[in-house]
Amino acid sequence: MKSQPQLREVLTMPPLVDKQSFRNAMSTLAAAVNVVTTDGPGGRAGFTATAVCSVCDEPPTLLVCLNRGASVYDAFRQNDSICVNTLADHQSDLSNLFGSKTTMEQRFAGATWSTAVTGAPVLEEALVSFDCTVSKRVSVGTHDILFCEVANVRHQDDIGGLVYFDRGYHRLKSE
Ligand SMILES: Cc1cc2nc3c(=O)[nH]c(=O)nc-3n(C[C@H](O)[C@H](O)[C@H](O)COP(=O)(O)O)c2cc1C
Repeated sequence: MKSQPQLREVLTMPPLVDKQSFRNAMSTLAAAVNVVTTDGPGGRAGFTATAVCSVCDEPPTLLVCLNRGASVYDAFRQNDSICVNTLADHQSDLSNLFGSKTTMEQRFAGATWSTAVTGAPVLEEALVSFDCTVSKRVSVGTHDILFCEVANVRHQDDIGGLVYFDRGYHRLKSE
């Protein structure tokens, strides 16, 4: 009979699923597209994120996963005010702008902004904007998970949503 591997052996084994297989599998999980913004002592910054998820409704909390290698990382490390702007169906260009190697000036010049209660930039015409304060940060692998307590929500009626699925954008219109 084959013996079970010891814990020490398991910890030194190569991962059973390689990075590319994991990425391919994750590309089949449809996700809303968000432009996550911040302002404060670390300056104004923003990036595109699909790794956004509800955590709990008491207190209202969501999470955002941010790559520590991203150009915006220092700003998000220093600032506690964050706005998660979920994009409407016509805003895929904005997703590409905030998701590529562009300067913060170029990114913010691509849309109209107002200032949230917390001080973070709110995207005009977003499907919904969650104005938040970061309550906890946890590092896992290459990313930081930012737990964000929601201070205010702004929602627009009668516009469709934008979904990222199979490495492409898809427009969703409610009936
Ligand atoms: C559709 C899409 C989804 C993305 N989702 C995330 C995400 O959830 N977390 C993250 O850290 N980066 C994500 N990115 C990458 C960042 O937006 C990207 O690192 C950044 O804006 C551009 O890189 P740089 O600022 O580091 O030069 C995503 C990009 C795209 C286009």
